[in-house]
Amino acid sequence: MTDKELLQAAIQAREFSYSPYSNFRVGAALLGKSGKVYTGCNVENAAYTPTNCAERTAVFKAVSEGEREFSAIAVVGGKDTLSDMCAPCGVCRQVLAEFCTGDLKIIMGNMQNIKVCTLSQLLPHSFGKSDIN
Ligand code: THU
Repeated sequence: MTDKELLQAAIQAREFSYSPYSNFRVGAALLGKSGKVYTGCNVENAAYTPTNCAERTAVFKAVSEGEREFSAIAVVGGKDTLSDMCAPCGVCRQVLAEFCTGDLKIIMGNMQNIKVCTLSQLLPHSFGKSDIN
């Protein structure tokens, strides 16, 4: 699975975005170590705080289907057209850190512009299970 293929899957997932309040449409595609891809979109709510981001939708779908190890996630977002970069929010970074190692590849951007970084670059000095156990 190439970065562009995963990005394309995120672009497709964005089509299902339910975002009538912000009109900011986000799509994510999470690559499991099994090779399976789990997609997600943001799902907003009239009460605002129950809103779920695209990345967490993808993670929760995957974990609820038995997959817990991941190698990459692609994220795209924007109102009408895709932004040059839509980085995962802080809550999504923390949720990714629960299941992914610091070398998780995070692919952002659009088909013209691709930026790749790692989870540890986006969430340095993170708090995780090793801090509790
Ligand atoms: N959003 C995501 O889906 N992922 C992020 O990482 C950033 C924000 C969504 C939440 C909300 O539906 C909309 O984008 C505007 O914040």
